[in-house]
Amino acid sequence: MKDHSIVVIAHEKLTSDELGELQQLFDSEYRDEFGEWRPQLPYGYAPHDVHIIAQVDGRAVGHVGWARREIVVGTQTVVIAGVGGVLIAEGARGRHLGFDLMREAERTMRAHGGIDFGYLGCREDVVPFYAACGWTRVHAAERSIGRAGELVADPPGQPILIFPLCEPTESWPEGEIDLRGRAW
Ligand SMILES: CC(C)(COP(=O)(O)OP(=O)(O)OC[C@H]1O[C@@H](n2cnc3c(N)ncnc32)[C@H](O)[C@@H]1OP(=O)(O)O)[C@@H](O)C(=O)NCCC(=O)NCCS
Repeated sequence: MKDHSIVVIAHEKLTSDELGELQQLFDSEYRDEFGEWRPQLPYGYAPHDVHIIAQVDGRAVGHVGWARREIVVGTQTVVIAGVGGVLIAEGARGRHLGFDLMREAERTMRAHGGIDFGYLGCREDVVPFYAACGWTRVHAAERSIGRAGELVADPPGQPILIFPLCEPTESWPEGEIDLRGRAW
């Protein structure tokens, strides 16, 4: 693969060309199964405030998105950056591009200020990728709003991972997680 560049773009600053590039990236992976990518509610998940995009010749070959939210864990309010839309184009995988995008996402979350932890949920088979990026698994029940707008209550055991920003990993509170909205 040719050399890539990584750009960081606030959601409201995405140009129509950049939206088109992201649409192509996501549709090439998910359109058959989930239909068209929609930037405001991608596949029914929460949208992103910030997009970290890997480009080759202006073409998007990778993406990580995140959004700030105050959630409740046990009895405490925790400020998180919810991460989603983590995708590397098929032909560009296995070359540490995902790792590089996650590292840039972590840097931008920290630079934003006032965010306690990065937060994400994923499939069991990609946990080793996020672990390689320095994320730590937590075991807790999670409540959220599902992709169709329904209430979802997941028992403990689903892959949930956090990344320390303003707070150290050990200070993640005990108890059930209420995302107070859709997951990313
Ligand atoms: C998961 C994904 C983002 C990883 O991106 P990538 O650029 O291929 O991964 P990297 O090359 O940066 O891998 C970084 C490390 O994670 C490991 N890793 C990557 N994908 C892995 C996987 N599926 N299972 C186990 N380990 C994995 C790599 O071996 C590497 O380890 P190393 O540092 O010891 O060499 C990419 O495969 C992808 O887009 N998959 C399809 C979409 C998807 O599943 N997204 C996640 C949704 S939650």
